[in-house]
Amino acid sequence: MSARGPSLTERGAVLEERGPGLVHVTLSINGAEHSLEIEPRVSLLDALREHAHLTGAKKGCDQGTCGACTVWVDGRRVLSCLTLAMTCEGREITTIEGLAEGDELHAMQRAFIAEDAFQCGYCTPGQIMSAVALLEEGHAGDDAEIKEWMSGNICRCAAYPHIRAAVRAVRDQT
Ligand code: FES
Ligand code: FES
Repeated sequence: MSARGPSLTERGAVLEERGPGLVHVTLSINGAEHSLEIEPRVSLLDALREHAHLTGAKKGCDQGTCGACTVWVDGRRVLSCLTLAMTCEGREITTIEGLAEGDELHAMQRAFIAEDAFQCGYCTPGQIMSAVALLEEGHAGDDAEIKEWMSGNICRCAAYPHIRAAVRAVRDQT
């Protein structure tokens, strides 16, 4: 084991084999436990979408350049297409589906609607997950900062001015 904890190989070795090439992984997603049998190479994005049937996180590029797949792991934003699902065991995963409180949308979700911050909506779950994290990271001081710290989230519909307006609206409420 390295100073950074068990290696992927060591983690894989302790996971129960369930069939040729499959491992059993329990993921905590939005406060609920999901027991999955997946290949070790499966990304968190595919585990969410294809195995846990949570399709809020979107697959845009599948190579870490668009941000459509942004979710939180232990409260920090990650690109789920570049994250191996099995490395997330024992950690708390939050997706766009976990942001609302019952029927009550998160303030950022309401602001995106109020500010018309989307067109096709494909990038929107990732934008919102990034935007909420951005505020918690303290990186929304001005438009330049918002632009910089949201730069990993691409919007092909170019809704950027409206997205920044939504971030400002929530920032100014708090
Ligand atoms: Fe993950 Fe594009 S799908 S960054
Ligand atoms: Fe269409 Fe952003 S709203 S890609």
